[in-house]
Amino acid sequence: MTRIGSPDAYYRRAKSQGYVARSVFKLQEMDRRYGLLRPGQAVLDLGCHPGSWLQYASQRVGPSGRLVGVDLQLPGVGLPPGASFIQADLLGLTPAEVQAQTGIKAFDLVLSDVAPRTTGVKDRDCAASLELSQAALDMALALLKPGGTFLAKVFFGPGVEDLIRQVKGAFKLGKGHKPEASRSASKEIYILGKGRKPAPPGASL
Ligand SMILES: C[S@@+](CC[C@H](N)C(=O)[O-])C[C@H]1O[C@@H](n2cnc3c(N)ncnc32)[C@H](O)[C@@H]1O
Repeated sequence: MTRIGSPDAYYRRAKSQGYVARSVFKLQEMDRRYGLLRPGQAVLDLGCHPGSWLQYASQRVGPSGRLVGVDLQLPGVGLPPGASFIQADLLGLTPAEVQAQTGIKAFDLVLSDVAPRTTGVKDRDCAASLELSQAALDMALALLKPGGTFLAKVFFGPGVEDLIRQVKGAFKLGKGHKPEASRSASKEIYILGKGRKPAPPGASL
C-alpha cells in the first residue's frame, strides 16, 4: 500500500511526462474506459489546480475545444491552449456567473476533482467532500448539454449513495468507480453520469 504523500510510480511518471500532478492518470484511465473526452468539446474542470486535468483535457479536445478551470487557487502551470480560468469558491459560484465569464452557454463534460482540505476527522472530511460534490452536480445539471457527461470525486461516506441515486436519475448511466491510480489508502471514489437526460420542462438556472 502506498502512503498518502509519498512519491510513487504514478508521481514519477507524471513528472517524466510533463504533467503537474499524478491525478492525471485517474482521468486518463476513466477517459479510456468510459470515452469522456473528444475533439471540439467544451469542458468545465472544477477544482482544477494545479492543472494536470487541464493539461490532459487540452490534448484530447484539441484546438477546436474549450476548457474552463475553476479553483480557489491559481493554476500551478501556464494555462494550456483553449483554456480559461475562474478563481472562485465552487460553493458560491453560480452557473450564470460561469456563463457570463466564459461566454459558454452549455458544456459537453463537467469534471470535478474538488477535494476539501482534510482534517483527519473522517466524518467531517466526508461531509465536506459531499457538500462540494453536490455543488459540482448542481453546476453540471445547470450547464450540461443534453447527452453530456459528469464525473466527480467524492470521499466515500454517508450520503454518497444518495448522490449516486441523483446521478442515476439525471443521466442514462450512473455509477461509482475507483481508478487504479487512486491510492488504496484514499477513501475517494468517482461518480460518473453519462447521457444527461433533457432537463424537465420549466427548469431554469
Ligand atoms: C486534488 S486537487 C485537483 C487536482 C487537479 N484535478 C489536477 O489534476 O491538477 C483538488 C482541488 O480542489 C480545490 N478546491 C477545494 N475546495 C474548493 C472550493 N470550495 N472551490 C473551488 N476549488 C476548491 C483545491 O484548491 C484543490 O486545488
